[in-house]
Amino acid sequence: MSTYSSRRNFIQKLSASAMGAVVVPKMLMASQDEIQLEWLTRNRQFSPNDQIQIGLIGAGGMGVADANTAITTPGVKLIAACDLYDGRLEAAKNIYGKDIYTTRDYKELLQRKDIDAVIIATPDHWHKDISVVAMNAGKAVYCEKPMTHDVSEGNAVVEAQNRNKVVFQVGSQGLSSLGNEKAKELLAAGAIGQLNYAEGFWARNSPEGAWQYNIPKDASEKTVDWKTFLNKSSDRPFDAKRFFRWRCYKDYGTGVSGDLFVHLFSSLHFITNSKGPQKIMAMGGLRYWKDGREVPDLLMGMFDYAETAEHPAFNLSLRVNFIDGTADSTYLRLVGSEGSMNVEWDKVTLKRNKAYAANDDPLMATKLNKEKIESLRKLILPPDTTVYKAEEGYKGAHYDHFSNFFTAIRNKSSVVEDALFGYRAAAPALLCNDSYYADKAVKWDPVNLQVVK
Ligand SMILES: NC(=O)c1ccc[n+]([C@@H]2O[C@H](COP(=O)([O-])OP(=O)(O)OC[C@H]3O[C@@H](n4cnc5c(N)ncnc54)[C@H](O)[C@@H]3O)[C@@H](O)[C@H]2O)c1
Repeated sequence: MSTYSSRRNFIQKLSASAMGAVVVPKMLMASQDEIQLEWLTRNRQFSPNDQIQIGLIGAGGMGVADANTAITTPGVKLIAACDLYDGRLEAAKNIYGKDIYTTRDYKELLQRKDIDAVIIATPDHWHKDISVVAMNAGKAVYCEKPMTHDVSEGNAVVEAQNRNKVVFQVGSQGLSSLGNEKAKELLAAGAIGQLNYAEGFWARNSPEGAWQYNIPKDASEKTVDWKTFLNKSSDRPFDAKRFFRWRCYKDYGTGVSGDLFVHLFSSLHFITNSKGPQKIMAMGGLRYWKDGREVPDLLMGMFDYAETAEHPAFNLSLRVNFIDGTADSTYLRLVGSEGSMNVEWDKVTLKRNKAYAANDDPLMATKLNKEKIESLRKLILPPDTTVYKAEEGYKGAHYDHFSNFFTAIRNKSSVVEDALFGYRAAAPALLCNDSYYADKAVKWDPVNLQVVK
């Protein structure tokens, strides 16, 4: 029997005694179908020598959010910030103290011996270059997702981590969450039977949600290091829109797929132990936000995961819609032969197929259905939905992800979302764009990390 096949006996026990009793008996007394996740205590004791000093490279929206979470982890101090826009450097001094070191040049920051780790939260087209230089300088690196801007850049990051033997973690924080951990455990226990389908969806409906960020009034070539921003992309005159709304342009961003699908790949690969899909196909278009952007605002991706030792064959369907009337409905759902799971960072909602829950014997299930059709009376069915919720006070995925990162630095241990994992999560997201622009399916070898021609 393969490792992933459903453990029906285990599940039978689980449903017979009211789902979840086996998992957390204490909570079951309080409520039958709401089960709290255990709150991980990740704040370990550390000595003053264990103080970790960090530098922030890219002090924009996410960089500041990352730094703010990082410094709530005990023993972590931010001492430097780098950015290409002066306004962001001034803001960093206001937040983290006038005495922090600031620079426009990330190489200057990396030369400092008193910096142990860096957060890289620049636009995507800078991730690979800065990550490699930072690891070569011996720094631990927390690099925002997607790990690279193009699929061809992944090996350089993996190679730099292996050669330098430093901690490197990609910033898809969801996979460190209690919700993702519980989903992984439930899938392995056979809670939804044999996985055959997964889907994810992002709905947004606002200018900000569609990346039309404010452009500061003082934006100019004086306050912005435009030439450095361009990196290896085509030279062009200063354009504040390209600098502050970089997600809309192919030279710097990775479209909705690199921005959002990549989170779902990280979580899905963590939950299923998958290395990735073998076939990728995308469709979509620019339907509404026609502000000069080069990327679609509605994208659908379809992905084919072949059977491996870790999981059965399954399909994945992902969607992003930036003009969606149901704005803010975001989900990741895993569907199996016996049920489904909606996975959130602090919650998992498990739904079990009633036929199985009522009786694991298909004949009996048919009989029950027949009786139901023949009788006007409704039948009493066992509960089929179980909600696993994080305890109140849970600090969330972002905190857990940084805790994992700093624990790995202190213990000289590894992280789940290392360069290899990050590459395997980024690749299908980036290839989804390639499929969209080439208007054809793309084949990928997730084991050997190669596009199959
Ligand atoms: N994990 C998440 O949930 C999450 C959420 C949002 C963004 N992100 C990721 O974080 C990264 C940053 O996104 P953002 O929304 O903060 O963008 P942003 O535009 O707000 O910030 C990017 C900052 O990087 C600076 N920058 C550009 N090139 C630089 C360079 N070479 N050296 C130093 N600074 C440079 C810019 O001046 C800007 O201040 C992206 O890769 C994005 O995908 C992750």
